[in-house]
Amino acid sequence: MPIPERFVDEVIARSEIAEVVGEYVSLNRKGGSLWGCCPFHSEKTPSFHVVPDRQMYKCFGCGKGGGVINFIMEIESLSFVEAVAFLAKRAGLQMPENTGESAAYRQKRQRLLELNKEAARFFHGKLYEPCGRAGLDYLTNRGLSKGTLTRFGLGYAPDSWDGIITAMAEKGYDKSELLEGGLVVRNQNGRVYDRFRNRVMFPIIDVRGEVIGFGGRVLDASEPKYLNSPDTPVYNKSRNLFALNIAKKSKQGRIILTEGYMDTISLHQAGFDCAVASLGTSLTAEHAQLISRYTGQAVIAYDGDGAGMAAAQRAIPILEKTGLKVKVLRVTGAKDPDEFIKAFGREAFSKLIDRSENHIEYRLIQLKSKYDLSDDGQKVEFLAAAAELVAGLQSPVEREIYGARAAEAAEISAEAMKQEVKRALSRRIRKEKKQEERKNLAPARAFQPDERSLQYENIRSARAEEGVLRLMLLDPTLFQGCPLKQEQFSSPLLGKVYGLLKKRYEAGMSVQLPSLAEELTGAEMSHMAKVAEAPESLAEAAQALGDYISVIETEGLKRTAVSDGDALLAAREKYRQNKAYGG
Ligand code: CTP
Ligand code: MN
Repeated sequence: MPIPERFVDEVIARSEIAEVVGEYVSLNRKGGSLWGCCPFHSEKTPSFHVVPDRQMYKCFGCGKGGGVINFIMEIESLSFVEAVAFLAKRAGLQMPENTGESAAYRQKRQRLLELNKEAARFFHGKLYEPCGRAGLDYLTNRGLSKGTLTRFGLGYAPDSWDGIITAMAEKGYDKSELLEGGLVVRNQNGRVYDRFRNRVMFPIIDVRGEVIGFGGRVLDASEPKYLNSPDTPVYNKSRNLFALNIAKKSKQGRIILTEGYMDTISLHQAGFDCAVASLGTSLTAEHAQLISRYTGQAVIAYDGDGAGMAAAQRAIPILEKTGLKVKVLRVTGAKDPDEFIKAFGREAFSKLIDRSENHIEYRLIQLKSKYDLSDDGQKVEFLAAAAELVAGLQSPVEREIYGARAAEAAEISAEAMKQEVKRALSRRIRKEKKQEERKNLAPARAFQPDERSLQYENIRSARAEEGVLRLMLLDPTLFQGCPLKQEQFSSPLLGKVYGLLKKRYEAGMSVQLPSLAEELTGAEMSHMAKVAEAPESLAEAAQALGDYISVIETEGLKRTAVSDGDALLAAREKYRQNKAYGG
């Protein structure tokens, strides 16, 4: 069941946009609105503004805009439901029951999350008690600062069979709950004891900031080196990534994917706050999907050994399938990113990232595996595909090197490959040129939505449609007696918004854009924020509305009347002209 619209409205009403945004952006008042530096793209002069009157925000730099729910969806990288829940919690509102899952199940999950939070507190606290000295020493010896221990909430599980059992019993959790949360195990004799003993603890925190599980590492060389929470009602290792709760807010424009907790933590400590780790499992499609929600680029930084290389090879297509741009970083001279940073420093790692500019070698190997090169036909196909790949490289030197390598793989002459690449390159350039031309020719570009799929087909009508929506937002009573129907709008987006607002008006609900966060995509909402920005006066509202309607109807007739010999249209145009000349 979806969240009732009235509840969403209540959440919006109790979440003053200036306050919510103000928690992330420092805002200064200028005229009727508040200005700050946009949190969604990097800038030095403020082009992001919040209009309290409309309860909307808009950035003139990157174009993002919307209401308070969109803002939270965007900045916390949450779904609509998650964002509503986030704001509800902030406003002290109880989320309605039965939205998606059963109330009992949700309560159970909630309780497990509370338990995990308590457990994380317990483990973290132990670091600073005498019994946790070994854990603190271990982490410190691995180069972690106190700030890092706090930032990641690292901890220590005491060398005891009932440390967590006793501590959690005091907080009101019984053994069956601890079992369900994976914090304890039951042996064949039915005895229940702590799962994590004498280990340093890595809490796993999801994108909402909830502790969902733990990884624990031994302090010496004993086995198993890492022990992880089993899957529980709140934890699934194929669907979560370590440190994504921090990395999702990174401004570095990418995610660095590592194999281990320590790799990720080391990278963060060295300033790479976009590092994440898969949790003792190879990368899944769900991981990739999750990453693609937050960024457009993934840099694979696995261990430098054969196993790491092979894992990287497997991860590439999984990541690419979600539209992510993938780079592979090769750790050399050290076992893994953690040891590399320790040995060579952050600058050197930065260079590794830069040098991972393309993963052409991987791509060539992958491409090759798809063709049977002993077959002449397939060889030709491979050649064409490889040339296409190589032509995509920016530098001529790289094209030369990798072209030669591809030629080698297919056992053809480097010269033949060179020709093939040249052809692919000029095709590519022609295509780009054409795209550029098309862009420059497009009329009224400034007025068009940025998003291609939303572009207006009929600018004249769209201008009027935008006007109608602005008027309705300023004075919803104008809906009363307004003859316009959604279908008459030339822009599907503007029509949809009109329909939704009208429905809200008729149901006696607030007529405002922020309420449409669920129905509109981010791009649609950003465009609507721009539409709402344009000046519009209520001074002659009825007259203005009449004019807009008239334009929309005329343009609509132009679309449909072609088959009717344009008779009606002609009559209408004549009437309009007469009117304009006072006839
Ligand atoms: N792992 C695991 N269980 C193990 C060993 C490893 O779940 N018995 C997972 C952990 O998530 C670990 C990752 O695999 O972080 C990488 O393991 P490995 O390369 O062996 O360890 P490092 O990351 O190098 O760990 P450390 O530096 O602490 O030795
Ligand atoms: Mn390591």
